[in-house]
Amino acid sequence: MSKPIYVLNGPNLNLLGMREPDIYGHTTLADLKGMCTARADARGLEIFFVQSNREYEIIDWIHEAIDGADGIIINPAAFTHTSLAILDALKNVNCPIIEVHISNPHTREDFRHFSYVTYAATGTIAGLGVNGYLTAIDAIADMLADA
Ligand code: DQA
Repeated sequence: MSKPIYVLNGPNLNLLGMREPDIYGHTTLADLKGMCTARADARGLEIFFVQSNREYEIIDWIHEAIDGADGIIINPAAFTHTSLAILDALKNVNCPIIEVHISNPHTREDFRHFSYVTYAATGTIAGLGVNGYLTAIDAIADMLADA
């Protein structure tokens, strides 16, 4: 039986739509959840879409995903650049992990160039705006279909 794809969003992404719209766009987190749900439906997948400003909550969802998910899409937001704990949690996961960034951190400040999460990610999508999440859903759907 297939399991859901966990779509995990880190700190400040609850402010999408009003947060630095020149960088992150005008789509709200609720809009993004709707877009992801529609794309997942079209690809025959179920998603569990959540956001937290708390590192431990994201780690707890990753632990749940060890047995409970067929894939993880994670935008760790600022935790990307700081959280060894999220990397250590992701290292216990055997399903595909796609790291997503709405902006392209490599074209921004130096402190955004390093990602802990990349060490555990199957692939990274950055700079495609919120459409990067849809690309990530397609990538996981294709990987699961090929498995
Ligand atoms: C982000 C990029 C991070 O550097 C930043 O801290 C975020 C969002 C992105 O989606 O572009 O909060 O992950």
